[in-house]
Amino acid sequence: MKMRPVLLTFALLSDLLVEAFFIKPPNHRSNPELLPRRRKKRPPKTTVGGWAKYFHEPGGSDLSNHYDIRYEHGILSYEEKQNTQVHMMRAYLDFFKKNNIETWLAHGTLLGWWWNGKMLPWDWDIDTQVSGPTLMFLGKHFNGSIYEYSSADSDPDLRPVIERQYLFDVNPAIIERDRGNGDNVIDARWIDIRNGLYIDVTGLSETEPLDQPGVWSCKNYHHYRTTDLYPMRETMYEGVVAKVPYAYDRILAEEYQEKALVVTDYEGHRWHPDIKEWVKKTPDEIKQERLSRQQARRKKQEEKAQRKKAKEEKDKAEQEAKEKGEAVDKEGKQAEKEEEKEDHAADQSIKEPEKEPIKVKRNAEPGPDPDPEPDPEPELMQETSGLAHLRRRGLDHAVWT
Ligand SMILES: *[C@@H]1O[C@H](CO)[C@@H](O)[C@H](O)[C@H]1NC(C)=O
Repeated sequence: MKMRPVLLTFALLSDLLVEAFFIKPPNHRSNPELLPRRRKKRPPKTTVGGWAKYFHEPGGSDLSNHYDIRYEHGILSYEEKQNTQVHMMRAYLDFFKKNNIETWLAHGTLLGWWWNGKMLPWDWDIDTQVSGPTLMFLGKHFNGSIYEYSSADSDPDLRPVIERQYLFDVNPAIIERDRGNGDNVIDARWIDIRNGLYIDVTGLSETEPLDQPGVWSCKNYHHYRTTDLYPMRETMYEGVVAKVPYAYDRILAEEYQEKALVVTDYEGHRWHPDIKEWVKKTPDEIKQERLSRQQARRKKQEEKAQRKKAKEEKDKAEQEAKEKGEAVDKEGKQAEKEEEKEDHAADQSIKEPEKEPIKVKRNAEPGPDPDPEPDPEPELMQETSGLAHLRRRGLDHAVWT
C-alpha cells in the first residue's frame, strides 16, 4: 500500500499547510456528489513510459475538448463560459496566493493579459505554469483538494454571492518529464466541478541541466530561459493579483509572432481601444462588414469595366481612323505604343492590392473576399492609458532579439 504513507504525511502536514477553506481529499471522496464519474468506455492506453493518459475530454468536436470528461454536462453558452472562466481563474490565483505558491500566466492567457489584463473572450484554453519543484509539492500536498470559493461579485437576479468549488487534480505522470506520446503533457488541472471547464497547469523543468543549463521546458517542448522567466512581475489579472514572466513580450512574440500583439479584429471579436475590451461583434456588425466588403468589390469591378470600355472605344476610334485611310506615320505608332504601356501600368497598379498577402487576417468568419485589415497601428498609438504603453513598446520593437 503505497498510498498509506502519502495519506499519513498529508494528514500530518495538512494542519500546517492547508487552510480552513480546503476540504481534504477523504471528505470529497466520501461525498458521492463530488465523486468523479469515471467513464470506462475507453480502455486506458498505456504509453511508452507505462503511463496511461490521465486527463480525458469528451472529444468529438473542438468545443467539447475543453471540458473534463468527469464533470462535463454539455457545451456552455458564451456567457456561461466567460463567467465560469473568470471566477475559476480568480479562485485559482487566490489559492496560490493564500498558500504562497508561485504560478504565472502562460500562452493565450498571457496574451489576454497583455491586451487588457483579462482573458481573451474567444479562448477556451486557460493556461498557467509552475516550476517543476512546485509541481511536485502540489502533487504531494494538494492533489484532490476541493477549493471553496465565494465571490462578492453578485448577480442580482441569481444569488447575492457566487459560491463555487474547484478540484485540483494532479497527474501522477508528473514525475516523468519527457513528452512521451503526448498523452500526459498537462500536469495538473483546476476544474470547475459544476461543468468541467478547467485551467491547464504545466510545470517547467530544467530537463537538460548539463547540456542546457538555464533552459526550462514543459512536456510539450515550450522552452524558456531562466532570465526570461525571472524575476517574475507582479500584476493584476481579472481583478486579482497574478504573476507574469519577466520577459513576457519576448515570450509572446516567440510564440505568437508580433501580429497577435497588433491585430484588432480576431475570432469574431473587435478590440475597442476606448474601453480596452475585446467585444464580440454583433450579427448586425458582421452583416455591415460583409456589405461594405461587397460594395468595395462591386466598386472595383465597375472601375475595371469602365477602363475596359474606355479602351474598347479608343481602339474602335483608332480602327475607324485607319479604315478612313489616314496614314499612320511612325510618330503616331510610337504614341500608340506609349499609351498601351500606360494603360498596362494603370491596370497593374489597380490590381496590386488584390495580390497583397493578407498578412494579419486571422478572422475565422468565412468570407470569399479577404480584404486586408485596416492598419491597427494608428488606433493603438492614440491610446493613452492602461496597457497601451506596452503595446506601443511592442510596436516599437517589432523584432525582439
Ligand atoms: C491525485 O489523485 C488521484 C485520485 O486519487 C490519483 O489517481 C492520482 O494519481 C493523484 N496524483 C498524484 C500526483 O499523486
